[in-house]
Amino acid sequence: MLNISHISKTFNPGTVNEKKAITDLSLHLKPGDFVTIIGSNGAGKSTLFNAVAGSFLTDSGSIVLDGKDVTFMPEFKRARMIGRLFQDPMRGSAPGMTIEENLALAAGSGGWFSHVSPADKKRFRDRLALLDMGLEERMKQPVGLLSGGQRQALTLLMATMNPPKLLLLDEHTAALDPGTAEKVLKLTRDIVAEHKITTMMVTHNMNQALELGNRTLMMDSGNIVLDIKGKEREGLTVKDLLLKFKAGAGKNLDNDRILLS
Ligand SMILES: Nc1ncnc2c1ncn2[C@@H]1O[C@H](COP(=O)(O)OP(=O)(O)OP(=O)(O)O)[C@@H](O)[C@H]1O
Ligand SMILES: [Mg+2]
Repeated sequence: MLNISHISKTFNPGTVNEKKAITDLSLHLKPGDFVTIIGSNGAGKSTLFNAVAGSFLTDSGSIVLDGKDVTFMPEFKRARMIGRLFQDPMRGSAPGMTIEENLALAAGSGGWFSHVSPADKKRFRDRLALLDMGLEERMKQPVGLLSGGQRQALTLLMATMNPPKLLLLDEHTAALDPGTAEKVLKLTRDIVAEHKITTMMVTHNMNQALELGNRTLMMDSGNIVLDIKGKEREGLTVKDLLLKFKAGAGKNLDNDRILLS
């Protein structure tokens, strides 16, 4: 489903600010894999997502998504295959447009000033009701009026309205209060399972990393230092994970958000 072969990315090469963010990283995901990713600050987790989404071209290596070589494909074209959520709930939806218009845009059935069909309205209302946040009664309101959690939940619906080939979640619940984060996480789990979406989720919550999905990657210094799945992953505790990280990376996991959570 996703085949990343030997990609590397150096920012500001040849300058004092040179930074090797990804070094010879390879990863193969099967259809329906739900991979959680944990790592030190600056390990290259977001950079890996940027590389896959096409925010920049990698210096070397190749990326094949759903049988298509996307290595040199521009970001806007990859966006048709990839759904993406960021930590910041303000990204991913248009604040001046209503909930209904945002959903219509995501569904590819309209947007500004265009007519939203009754069938689409019904479909949007049903999806919104799943969030259990009362948003189905607020479809004519601008998204800018929603809380961060409501907006993130809406972005998740939008990103999966037409199920993408790949869903990239970059600490998408980190900025939410614990109750809302739990809701958005449950929704994530349900939507991913319903459509069997191949998913990569960065989290700083070690319990989440072990509970969700079928595979856990740990990253450090621009590479994957641990890839845990199958029998090895069953029954693994956070303590085991930290020990494995230390063995794999040769040092303790150093991430302020993990340590604070
Ligand atoms: N556009 C850029 N220009 C220059 N350096 C960058 C750029 N993007 C990322 N970096 C650097 O690459 C390294 C990896 O950054 P990245 O954001 O991928 O880390 P991360 O694993 O997502 O960390 P965090 O847990 O803090 O989010 C960091 O040293 C970062 O400063
Ligand atoms: Mg990051």
